[in-house]
Amino acid sequence: MRIAVVGSGYVGLVAAVCFAELGHEVISVDNDTQKTAMLQSGEIPIHERFLPELLAQHRGRAVTFSSSLLEAARASQAIFIAVGTPQAGGGQADLSYVESVARELAGAINAYKLIVEKSTVPVFTHDWIRKVMLLNGAPADSFDVASNPEFLREGTAVADFLYPDRIVIGVDSERAAALLREIYRPLTDGTYRPSMAVAAPDHPRRPPKLIETSAKSAELIKHACNAFLAMKISFINAVANLCESVGADVRQVCDGIGGDSRIGPKFLNPGIGYGGSCFPKDLAAFRMVARECGYDFRLLDEVSNINADQRHRFLRKVRNALWTLRGKRLAVLGLAFKGGTDDVRESPAIAVVEMLLKEGCEIHAYDPAAMERAREVLPAANMSYASSPYEAANGCDALLVLTDWDEFAGLDLDRLAAALAYPVVVDGRNLYDPAVMASRGFSYYSIGRADVQAARQTSGASRSV
Ligand code: UGA
Repeated sequence: MRIAVVGSGYVGLVAAVCFAELGHEVISVDNDTQKTAMLQSGEIPIHERFLPELLAQHRGRAVTFSSSLLEAARASQAIFIAVGTPQAGGGQADLSYVESVARELAGAINAYKLIVEKSTVPVFTHDWIRKVMLLNGAPADSFDVASNPEFLREGTAVADFLYPDRIVIGVDSERAAALLREIYRPLTDGTYRPSMAVAAPDHPRRPPKLIETSAKSAELIKHACNAFLAMKISFINAVANLCESVGADVRQVCDGIGGDSRIGPKFLNPGIGYGGSCFPKDLAAFRMVARECGYDFRLLDEVSNINADQRHRFLRKVRNALWTLRGKRLAVLGLAFKGGTDDVRESPAIAVVEMLLKEGCEIHAYDPAAMERAREVLPAANMSYASSPYEAANGCDALLVLTDWDEFAGLDLDRLAAALAYPVVVDGRNLYDPAVMASRGFSYYSIGRADVQAARQTSGASRSV
């Protein structure tokens, strides 16, 4: 099928390349001409596993890049809207980009078109798109508007797209449903044959379930899904805090909770809270949507309060480990909002670093992918960037783990201990086993587990850390 994907951010770009991988002819459209030129030449503006290889496979053949929405829409049967829906004042989503795409699409109707929302949008957005198109002269029977929310995660976006648990299509007409079924058929009938090896996520459902709903329900599914996942994280963070109060171990508690198949073990990793371009924004937008629709969804306030507290609790942990903070030299591992991405938007790691800088600390940071982006938001004088975790640790009073990169979990602990001035690790992502850290002579502080006080370290720490 001929498909246009409007917007080449994380969701749009991954969707465009993956639709090409499924056998469709795709035009990826973005009004940022510089970005379009970059993509045309094969450069990718984001760090996303498997995307460069997949783009190299399909670029110039099944997927092309353009800055002309009009031409792309005219040439396509289905047009996916994947433009940004940033947070506006008051928490609601700013839908002005969606509106301007809808306005332009009205003038591009040369045959029946299926317009599909892929961006995360509030309930009723499909109605607004329809109204805007009608107002701008699109004939009523010449298009449908559907919702097809995307559930991919940054860092594993390609695998999430190609091996989804489920595909949700929110449609209000049989014609729209038939087209969307056709687009996803290679996945739902199991005939998709990958053009290259993309590691599937853990236990994907094969073939994925196709869930057909109304457009309204699909819009709500996306917001409710992100809100539920954020709630799961805040819940386990609250439980981890309780574990610290009573001396229980959150790992054991998680095993016990996650072993219940009604709950499941995923998204039960406590830490310094969730971040990224989705959860904080979507939670605020969902809260607002609910309020506007007459329901006061107060539970969501507590989810975001717990999340904000988590950063401050971590700062207290650092203080407890080091006593005073002014002038302390700290190594920071991780700046991205999670491992596997270069994205620092709403990164809890950045927020913690900002607090430490304010306290007068000197920060030596390392991140495998996010340092360039971090430099733009952390231009502070007391901040430097290292070329490896060991270089960051060199001569520091303590090491802080702020992002869950896999490579951090496999560091050479003896080398780390030798590089640090004091073997003190404050781990905001629970990457290490406290017993192992104790055996290597570290003082180790993590989330929801007992602190480890290294005997050698304790005397050193009380003297000079
Ligand atoms: C999230 C959702 O997981 C996707 O399903 C959704 O499509 C996407 O938002 C979106 O709306 O576009 P993403 O923001 O890429 O994906 O990242 P997640 O893997 O969900 O992580 C979000 C945050 O939660 C990160 O800061 C991560 O470190 C944190 N997290 C995650 C935890 O603190 N604990 C966990 O157990 C899991």
